[in-house]
Amino acid sequence: MEIILEDIEKSYMVDGEPLPVLGGVSAAVGEGEFVSLIGPSGCGKSTLFNIICGLTGPDRGRVVLGGKTGARAGEVVSYMPQKDLLLPWRTVLDNVILAREVAGENRETARREARELMPLFGLAGFENSYPAELSGGMRQRAALMRAVLARRRVLLLDEPFGALDAITRTRMQQWLLEVWDKFRQAVFFVTHDIDEALILSDRVYVLTPRPARVCLHLEVGLPRPRRAETLTDPRFLALKRQIMRALLG
Ligand SMILES: Nc1ncnc2c1ncn2[C@@H]1O[C@H](COP(=O)(O)OP(=O)(O)OP(=O)(O)O)[C@@H](O)[C@H]1O
Ligand SMILES: [Mg+2]
Repeated sequence: MEIILEDIEKSYMVDGEPLPVLGGVSAAVGEGEFVSLIGPSGCGKSTLFNIICGLTGPDRGRVVLGGKTGARAGEVVSYMPQKDLLLPWRTVLDNVILAREVAGENRETARREARELMPLFGLAGFENSYPAELSGGMRQRAALMRAVLARRRVLLLDEPFGALDAITRTRMQQWLLEVWDKFRQAVFFVTHDIDEALILSDRVYVLTPRPARVCLHLEVGLPRPRRAETLTDPRFLALKRQIMRALLG
């Protein structure tokens, strides 16, 4: 397993009172797997990702990364947070190579590799543009490209397509599956969108409202590649109904 979460609990102090956010969440992501996490707004999904990458610690429970206790998060996961954090003063090219540069790699080598991958990420011709000059979808792709280029074993993607219109979103899903196929990283993916989770994932975890616990764990099992027709497959609809029931309680 690349990520194992055991009974993670977390509260924040809000106005001097503890706010229980995670109420004992257990989950796992295996090598090369695509796993989604669905849950109501504010239930603690981003908090869980922050815990996985060590930005904050759990109150109780255990995080095991890369198969052995003690692997540093930075060695195993790359994180695309909910807000795309492209640096406005860097060009697209210099944004996407950021992790490589921080890792001490030669800037020109990293740039050369990134240039070759621009077409796959739909950014060819925009190497020297600044983030403010890109559309929302392009910014998301640049942020994703940066996470992919960090070359970690696991990608943590927190609602990467949340702000996009339905058509762009569908395109981005198909494209993400191509990227996943090419780079073979495991993906842990947060979304509110049941269709999106089922089209993309091998497995889905559904969380309760705060304090979050896993209330449903599904093996999707639909054949790949999944296309528009999958959305009307009776097996797909049965899974969707199951998730809706779990979410609506
Ligand atoms: N640093 C913090 N200090 C205090 N409270 C926090 C902090 N970060 C998050 N929270 C609270 O914890 C709860 C869970 O937040 P979190 O961002 O993890 O939810 P989420 O499931 O990602 O929501 P969404 O789907 O809207 O992104 C919320 O009530 C939020 O207000
Ligand atoms: Mg969130």
